Amino acid sequence: MLNIGIDLGGTGIKAGLVDERGNILYKLSCPTLVERGHEAVIHDMAQLSLRVIAESGHDLSEVSSIGIGIPGIMDQATGVVPFCTNLAWHNVPLVKLMQQEIDKPVYVNNDATVAGLAESVAGVSAGSRSSVFVTLGTGVGGGVILDGKVFMGEHGVATEIGHMITVAGGELCTCGNRGCWERYASATAIIREGRRFCEAHPDCPLAREVGGDLSKIEARTVIDLAKAGDPDCVSLFDNYCYHLTVGIVNLINMYDPEIIALGGGVSKTGQFLLDKVNALLPEMIFFKDMPHARIELARLSNDAGIIGAAMLGAQEG
Ligand code: BGC
Repeated sequence: MLNIGIDLGGTGIKAGLVDERGNILYKLSCPTLVERGHEAVIHDMAQLSLRVIAESGHDLSEVSSIGIGIPGIMDQATGVVPFCTNLAWHNVPLVKLMQQEIDKPVYVNNDATVAGLAESVAGVSAGSRSSVFVTLGTGVGGGVILDGKVFMGEHGVATEIGHMITVAGGELCTCGNRGCWERYASATAIIREGRRFCEAHPDCPLAREVGGDLSKIEARTVIDLAKAGDPDCVSLFDNYCYHLTVGIVNLINMYDPEIIALGGGVSKTGQFLLDKVNALLPEMIFFKDMPHARIELARLSNDAGIIGAAMLGAQEG
């Protein structure tokens, strides 16, 4: 049987047709355009899924379920998304609205949780009993696998690791709190700090790199200049890595997993990122004389969200 996996993000929707072995047979994407409201977004998810099936040469009758990874939390008992800060959704009956468009079982879970599930089955943490997957993108999300099972906590919010407060009274978060880890460890944080630096130093190499148009600064712009040795960007990126490591240490102290897998856009920085985190970790870890989690880069890249979402249905079936 085949399953549809949908990765619903703040900027884009990706849908793929996935076989039993976790191979993506065909995939498509479209912009989310959140401001149109949830009905339009859900309609587009359904249309994209139907196009994926048709254009891949398959038929809806071959599809057993639709899995969706959302950048927020899901009430499994009601099928309602109570709160999704990145989509500005409140109490959206996602399962019901999706089934009105496509009459198939619909399974929903957090985007990072499904990506962590995919990594634990077919990616970097395959074969390990416990892992924490951390996505470093627009926000920071988590997928916690303990004793081989997805851990969601008593109320389904245990993996909202991006909203652990690591800087009390710090930057205002989209969730309304201050000092959430994702304000410091996301790609958004690198962009914000890069822009702030340029405002204070309009002649710096980073500002020149974007021709003075600070809206063009991406996380990659700062990271590339840091890799090239620009002292300002090295210091911006070192500060980012410090905050990233603070959260990683907290996760190690809380869960003591075998692996912490870093995914999402910033993880594409690769060894340059790993080296900095690994250099900071020993001093900050609690049990200094004991072995601790390996920090690894996720392997399934951008497809983890689709594969993991499709796995939700495959696991039920
Ligand atoms: C959300 C998480 C999500 C993460 C990555 C966070 O802001 O609260 O639910 O997994 O962003 O998209």
